[in-house]
Amino acid sequence: MHPNLCPNIVFFFFFTILGLIARVGAIGMNWGTTASHPLPPPKVVELLKSNNITKVKLSDADPLVLQALSESNIGVTVGIPNTMLRSFNSSKKAAESWVHDNVTRYFSNGGSGVRIEYVAVGDEPFLQRYGEQFLPFVIGAATNIQAALIKANLEGKVRVVVPCSFDAFLSESNLPSKGHFRSDVNKTMIQLLTFLSKHNSPFFVTISPFITLHQNKNISLDFSLFKETAHRHNDSRRTYKNSFDLSYDTLVNALWTVGFPKIDIVVAQIGWPTDGATNATSSVAETFMKGLTNHLRSKLGTPLRPRDPPIEIYIFSLLDEDQRSITTGNFERHWGVFTFDGQAKYHVDFGQGSKNFVNAQNVEYLPAKWCVVNNNRDLSNATASATEACSVADCTALSPGGSCFNISWPGNISYAFNSYYQQHDQRPDSCDFGGLGLITTVDPSVDNCRFSVELRTSRSDSLHQSCYFQWTTLLTTTLVCFLRFTW
Ligand SMILES: *[C@@H]1O[C@H](CO)[C@@H](O)[C@H](O)[C@H]1NC(C)=O
Ligand SMILES: *[C@@H]1O[C@H](CO)[C@@H](O)[C@H](O)[C@H]1NC(C)=O
Ligand SMILES: *[C@@H]1O[C@H](CO)[C@@H](O)[C@H](O)[C@H]1NC(C)=O
Ligand SMILES: *[C@@H]1O[C@H](CO)[C@@H](O)[C@H](O)[C@H]1NC(C)=O
Ligand SMILES: *[C@@H]1O[C@H](CO)[C@@H](O)[C@H](O)[C@H]1NC(C)=O
Ligand SMILES: *[C@@H]1O[C@H](CO)[C@@H](O)[C@H](O)[C@H]1NC(C)=O
Ligand SMILES: *[C@@H]1O[C@H](CO)[C@@H](O)[C@H](O)[C@H]1NC(C)=O
Ligand SMILES: *[C@@H]1O[C@H](CO)[C@@H](O)[C@H](O)[C@H]1NC(C)=O
Ligand SMILES: *[C@@H]1O[C@H](CO)[C@@H](O)[C@H](O)[C@H]1NC(C)=O
Ligand SMILES: *[C@@H]1O[C@H](CO)[C@@H](O)[C@H](O)[C@H]1NC(C)=O
Repeated sequence: MHPNLCPNIVFFFFFTILGLIARVGAIGMNWGTTASHPLPPPKVVELLKSNNITKVKLSDADPLVLQALSESNIGVTVGIPNTMLRSFNSSKKAAESWVHDNVTRYFSNGGSGVRIEYVAVGDEPFLQRYGEQFLPFVIGAATNIQAALIKANLEGKVRVVVPCSFDAFLSESNLPSKGHFRSDVNKTMIQLLTFLSKHNSPFFVTISPFITLHQNKNISLDFSLFKETAHRHNDSRRTYKNSFDLSYDTLVNALWTVGFPKIDIVVAQIGWPTDGATNATSSVAETFMKGLTNHLRSKLGTPLRPRDPPIEIYIFSLLDEDQRSITTGNFERHWGVFTFDGQAKYHVDFGQGSKNFVNAQNVEYLPAKWCVVNNNRDLSNATASATEACSVADCTALSPGGSCFNISWPGNISYAFNSYYQQHDQRPDSCDFGGLGLITTVDPSVDNCRFSVELRTSRSDSLHQSCYFQWTTLLTTTLVCFLRFTW
């Protein structure tokens, strides 16, 4: 805390924050960086602060991100990627060195460091599509990270959690009272819950009404969006008015079944995408978020946990990320409440004190140039070129239900060319496409279909390349060579 700050202001600030937490429960944001041109971390921290967002959850421990978060007083969850779990299960030393490099070095309870509150071991390691890939290492890795935190004197200050995916629990015929864990994760889940209870850590879980809607014919859009008029679901004497409560109580029952009915729950990911699928639009997302925040604010809880809502909730996600995997769907790159460049897609009162979000300021873009198809050429091979571009670039907006699905041929070819060109920092040779590409300064966007101009980054701006960047490139190259040799 700044020594010159008048104590009255400090107290005022303290109680204002307390008031906010008491009103809505803490609302945080997932901040991911799987983007070709991520918004610079200091800009993102500015964005968080100007919107009074007090908590973030990261999927890794990027040093630039942690540096930007220092002195911000934002509560932080740092993440350990799934691919590191094997080594942390088998080596206490590896766990200790990760904690030293990525937690101890930055940690602070206020003051000049980073307010790290949780270490998330794995990024949804129980997802069904991963099968046994990470499952066997989770408990060992969590145990070794916990031991490393104790050794670093951080026990009780930083808590170990394991983010659990929405598909780790289920129920028959949508009845929460029949909720249970997936049989292949049941045993590990009991070990995990025993571990969490012992260390007084909460259960982190993803609730995904959007994916539930797409997978479950019996769930309606209105039920997913907290609409009062939605058709309700009965479960013997209990009545469910929305999809969130239905999923939440399915989990509560699964926890009850294995003997942990009272454990604290943190909703680690919840959101609604805005592109790449039907019903994924900004206006539907806004309705969902308003329904969710009103529901949380009501403090009603759910039928199985009345007046006992989740202790924290992290919106998924802060920004769009154009390099997220689209294995589960083209909507995966469009979860942001803000676009990739930090502009609000819609407005919701998260309890931040004002109804409208504040956009990122002074964002630096590449020049106002786009790559489109040259209509004066023979376009008989253009579709093949576009398909090739799309294998690298982000064409998810062209998919059925997407914001650019309706632009006709060859507009969609231009969209693909431009995405490729922007991802390659507008290098002239990335708008060639065998002579079919043409660079223009006229914005080709039509209606809702936005042809973006990418952000200027240290990579795109070789004249201003910083030492840090050169250093990491060198490090990565060395690491890649090292991996090649050891394989
Ligand atoms: C996890 O680590 C323990 C201790 O080193 C080891 O005995 C066990 O085999 C490891 N588990 C797996 C699945 O490799
Ligand atoms: C610290 O975290 C970063 C990013 O997750 C990782 O690359 C690095 O290996 C970690 N440090 C150690 C010592 O594991
Ligand atoms: C859908 O609802 C019907 C009638 O309520 C029920 O019989 C059926 O089991 C449900 N199906 C699923 C997959 O929940
Ligand atoms: C999970 O384990 C508990 C305790 O052993 C058992 O009662 C329950 O039936 C199991 N559930 C599933 C789905 O395997
Ligand atoms: C659910 O139960 C209420 C009364 O408890 C009843 O009015 C309503 O019709 C039931 N809904 C369905 C879909 O069965
Ligand atoms: C999207 O919403 C419409 C109603 O607005 C509905 O008819 C349609 O089935 C929904 N699509 C999906 C995939 O849920
Ligand atoms: C943040 O909080 C302050 C004080 O409560 C308020 O004046 C301001 O409008 C809030 N900002 C936003 C973007 O909500
Ligand atoms: C289209 O591609 C085929 C095969 O690569 C090639 O033979 C043909 O000349 C191309 N046509 C044009 C107009 O470029
Ligand atoms: C696309 O066009 C169809 C038919 O012309 C129209 O019904 C639909 O609303 C349009 N979708 C979008 C996203 O503009
Ligand atoms: C563009 O539209 C044409 C005609 O509808 C279609 O054949 C082609 O696959 C589309 N290309 C892309 C990249 O979406």
